[in-house]
Amino acid sequence: MRKGVFKLSVHNYFHMIVISGTPGTGKTQVARLVAKSLGLPLLDVTRLVREERLFTSRENGVLVVDMPALGKRLRGFSGLAEGHVLCELKLPARCVVLRTDPRVLEARLKRRKYRKQKILDNVESEALDYCLIYARENYRDVLQVDTTRRTAEQTARRVLRVLDGKAVSDKVDWTDWILNH
Ligand SMILES: Nc1ncnc2c1ncn2[C@@H]1O[C@H](COP(=O)(O)OP(=O)(O)O)[C@@H](O)[C@H]1O
Ligand SMILES: [Mg+2]
Repeated sequence: MRKGVFKLSVHNYFHMIVISGTPGTGKTQVARLVAKSLGLPLLDVTRLVREERLFTSRENGVLVVDMPALGKRLRGFSGLAEGHVLCELKLPARCVVLRTDPRVLEARLKRRKYRKQKILDNVESEALDYCLIYARENYRDVLQVDTTRRTAEQTARRVLRVLDGKAVSDKVDWTDWILNH
């Protein structure tokens, strides 16, 4: 096998997998399990941005990511990268977007003690498919996995099966939430 090229099944070679999704959908936890299972290096992009100061400013305590600098930093990376900002970046990778029913996501973010407005912003982004829409603009191969009724372990298994072509990408529909808000 060529260096830096990973194999899931016979016809499924790739250099980089990206896991994106709204904060709280479970990227960090699921990515750890997937990376371990595939034996891939794992990059937590939110942490990378902080540690390598790949941001231009801070708005209300939130870092504004320097996208060109991050793109440059990730060029040539082989492995699994996870972070919500990745949906906005064009990378030669397969992209998995984790999805969570807005009501369940709200409960997860409350447990995280996020501020009210921050919870609403994130739940709205999820309901409006924000990350998926960007991911589809930026990646050729975009897969979705619904975490709503799955544990992190079940989600990770599903991600592996979807990447391997053994299960189809999940379809989600949060219009019900939109109509009630
Ligand atoms: N199916 C699931 N997959 C991943 N995380 C889940 C799941 N169900 C509940 N969680 C919980 O959701 C929270 C958010 O997980 P985390 O990995 O930090 O998300 P993210 O990195 O997307 O912000 C954690 O407390 C995690 O235990
Ligand atoms: Mg995270």
